[in-house]
Amino acid sequence: MQTEQGKFITLEGSEGAGKSTNLVFIAETLRQTGKTVITTREPGGSEIGEKIRALLLDPQNSAMHADTELLLMFAARAQHLQQTILPALKQGIWVISDRFTDASYAYQGAARGLGFERIAPLESWVQGQFAPDLTLVFDLPIEVGMVRVAARAGRVDRFEQEQSAFFAKVREAYLQRAQLSLQRYCVLNAAQPLEVVQQQIREQLRLRLGC
Ligand SMILES: Nc1ncnc2c1ncn2[C@@H]1O[C@H](COP(=O)(O)OP(=O)(O)O)[C@@H](O)[C@H]1O
Ligand SMILES: [Mg+2]
Repeated sequence: MQTEQGKFITLEGSEGAGKSTNLVFIAETLRQTGKTVITTREPGGSEIGEKIRALLLDPQNSAMHADTELLLMFAARAQHLQQTILPALKQGIWVISDRFTDASYAYQGAARGLGFERIAPLESWVQGQFAPDLTLVFDLPIEVGMVRVAARAGRVDRFEQEQSAFFAKVREAYLQRAQLSLQRYCVLNAAQPLEVVQQQIREQLRLRLGC
């Protein structure tokens, strides 16, 4: 008998929206239903991808051109997809990724101003028709996200250094992307208390993916 393909779930949203926190929650929730799950992230998700991530996030790389940033994102994604995501799904493993291609539309397409039309050809180059089964968009006011990031320990990366106008474009782009397919995207109000957000995630997993 052929193994049933795993499902691919991506988490999107600007800084401090709760992606990393809920990645763990979703993996735990799915494991409780007996599924085999891996969690991963972008940029990164493979050994080579993590090296590219380090280049992308290093605040010292302030000279990086937006085109370079975009192409590195897709270079890392190609490796992530071929080495990590597709093989896992094929084995029936569920894959949850902290960001994926929607982030390139939001950050490089909108916030860096390259335009969605520059992203789409790279998306089809690297992915063909492949897309997530479910994309959760964690939406919250920029100021709330910035307060959360400030409270979080750790060094500020090249993206977190950006100003609120940049994040406003990111947020807007995610909401615009979410209009493309009501079946694939689910926008969550991430300003709500964590328990409420997680209750809604549980409900969406049940409704949309039957878990
Ligand atoms: N719904 C929520 N309400 C309050 N604080 C939250 C909520 N979700 C996440 N946080 C906190 O906000 C911070 C940023 O969350 P994180 O998951 O790291 O966001 P992201 O990965 O999207 O940048 C963390 O300290 C986390 O505990
Ligand atoms: Mg995070």
